[in-house]
Amino acid sequence: MAEGGVRFEVDGEIATITLDRPEKRNAQTFATWSALARIGETLPERVRVVVVKGEGPSFSAGIDLRMFTAEGVPGQGSFGSAAKSDGASFEQSIRRAQAGFLWLRRPEIVSIAAVQGHAIGAGFQLALACDLRIVADDVSFCMKEPALGLVPDLTGTKPLVELVGLAKAIDICLTARTVHADEAMRIGLAERVVAGGDLEQATREKVEQLLSTNRDAAAATKRLLQGAQGRTLEEQSRAEGIEQAARIKALFG
Ligand code: ACO
Repeated sequence: MAEGGVRFEVDGEIATITLDRPEKRNAQTFATWSALARIGETLPERVRVVVVKGEGPSFSAGIDLRMFTAEGVPGQGSFGSAAKSDGASFEQSIRRAQAGFLWLRRPEIVSIAAVQGHAIGAGFQLALACDLRIVADDVSFCMKEPALGLVPDLTGTKPLVELVGLAKAIDICLTARTVHADEAMRIGLAERVVAGGDLEQATREKVEQLLSTNRDAAAATKRLLQGAQGRTLEEQSRAEGIEQAARIKALFG
């Protein structure tokens, strides 16, 4: 966890993940993604809300740029060494890294990214992996990967398209431009924009609102909402009925 620059705390039903390498703007390494995956694997069942935040002025400046150097990140290699390995083992490493992001969508939890300052590349994708984004007014999202010759591969492309639409996602990614707070709010990337000093309080308020609903109903509703786009109206209506029958049974049976 320390090697990955990640702190993790659980307080009752609330878990908080803090990227904690502010002197390097919370740059992420494979160790960071392993730590995130491990948190997902061992998350206590009682947790209902997961807050992801970054220490210091930036949420995260993305992948550790040492990966682009010949020396790489000590103990974790470099893109140069990955290029020499067989494709299958690097794809395996990517799958492991993605596991650190994927679990944040689980129906049993709601994940909130509290984002201030820079959220670049992997930082942007970590914010996208969360269900909700509450942002400070100095936020700047940037999908820098294409500018560096890479693709966004940390599970960020699907939520980006779902949130802002294909045209806007193409615009944001293929120009690697910065999206500031006002645009983030307008295009649906952010649920709320607050002054930097109010980010913690605004996040706490959202956590309280989320915890005020019934745990099992919340999980079932999230399941329904997540499945909605992939189903026809008829299929979705049937899914609602099945979930509701289970709720009624649990509440009154
Ligand atoms: N990897 C490693 N170290 C980093 C990174 C990074 N991604 N970002 C910042 N740092 C380090 C800097 O090297 C510097 O270290 P030093 O004090 O030892 O010199 C320290 O963090 C502070 O960085 P500054 O640039 O001085 O901070 P500032 O607040 O002025 O700027 C910013 C922040 C805009 C984030 C800038 O650091 C930056 O552009 N970083 C690189 C962003 C990037 O290209 N990320 C890769 C995206 S692609 C992907 O994630 C797959």
